[in-house]
Amino acid sequence: MSAEKAHHVTLTLLNIVVKTPIIGHLFKAMWRNTNAQGVDFAGLHFPNRVGLAAGFDKNAKYLEVMKALGFGHVEIGTVTPKAQPGNDKPRLFRLVKDEAIINRMGFNNDGVDIIAERLKNRPANLIVGGNIGKNKVTSNEDAVNDYKICFDKLYPYVDYFTVNVSSPNTPGLRALQDRGPLTEILNALMSMRADFVKQGKKQLPILLKIAPDLNQEQLDDIVALTLETKIDGLVATNTTISREGLSTDKATVEAIGAGGLSGKPVKEKSTEVLSYLCQKFEGKVPVIGVGGIHSKADADEKFKAGAGLVQVYSGFIYEGPALVKAIAS
Ligand SMILES: Cc1cc2nc3c(=O)[nH]c(=O)nc-3n(C[C@H](O)[C@H](O)[C@H](O)COP(=O)(O)O)c2cc1C
Repeated sequence: MSAEKAHHVTLTLLNIVVKTPIIGHLFKAMWRNTNAQGVDFAGLHFPNRVGLAAGFDKNAKYLEVMKALGFGHVEIGTVTPKAQPGNDKPRLFRLVKDEAIINRMGFNNDGVDIIAERLKNRPANLIVGGNIGKNKVTSNEDAVNDYKICFDKLYPYVDYFTVNVSSPNTPGLRALQDRGPLTEILNALMSMRADFVKQGKKQLPILLKIAPDLNQEQLDDIVALTLETKIDGLVATNTTISREGLSTDKATVEAIGAGGLSGKPVKEKSTEVLSYLCQKFEGKVPVIGVGGIHSKADADEKFKAGAGLVQVYSGFIYEGPALVKAIAS
């Protein structure tokens, strides 16, 4: 079975399991984190410190399952205004020797309207983040409108937002990490939020997700911009475009081609970025640590570097739900 098919088959089966009367109950009891402690982060109360990173439940279809498996939060998306199919298949590859994944999914998702509708039935006691992006056909000049559309339509149904300008699989997207365009997008969303708050709606935190491939100057820009725009925090990091330090043979890696690399090989780079940002912020800006967490010790490294919460994706594929339980408790 291809990696992508395995993903959908497993999740469809788990969706049936959690909804089956006695079996579902037993399944939930098996993964319940009885000794997990809640934690405050960016003004929200999270049931525990571990979440499912964006891209796993792009369409908000598996929230009940992920809650049952012990996640305290799930970041859905990346959601774009219009539904889009993403890149041609195959687009998801496992590098088993490296406990890594290369993907060039390209924001395949059902579009914001269908996803917002689905979220009307979201489970309680699970924090849901809305990770938002732009459609492939939208130019970078018009990108701000795509972020605004997703922000507006998801606002009633999510607990926080993550602005994604760091995926390597939408052509030109990462150029939005530059100071000019990023300031425009973040200011636009902050201003919409101020209007929502004036109308009596809750103030939802806005986070920014960044790439692990930024140089020091670019990271300094991100720090300055975070403080200027007064957004609530960061998510560090997305996948890397680097192919350094892999054990998988070069020919195999080259044959896979373009895409973002995640899992164990991204851990060091990702933690370095996290640590740099947290030092600059001196604990005043909350940051979620994500990238290469495959054990409780890996999560502890992120907390030590200054992360308030962690998220997992590749580690969850390789280690399974025991990883979630180990970190949460
Ligand atoms: C198949 C796949 C799809 C992903 N899709 C998204 C996405 O849509 N939006 C996003 O912000 N990050 C996406 N990511 C990145 C993850 O959220 C995470 O930042 C990255 O994989 C590093 O964490 P990990 O090493 O635990 O996998 C994706 C990752 C993978 C492996």
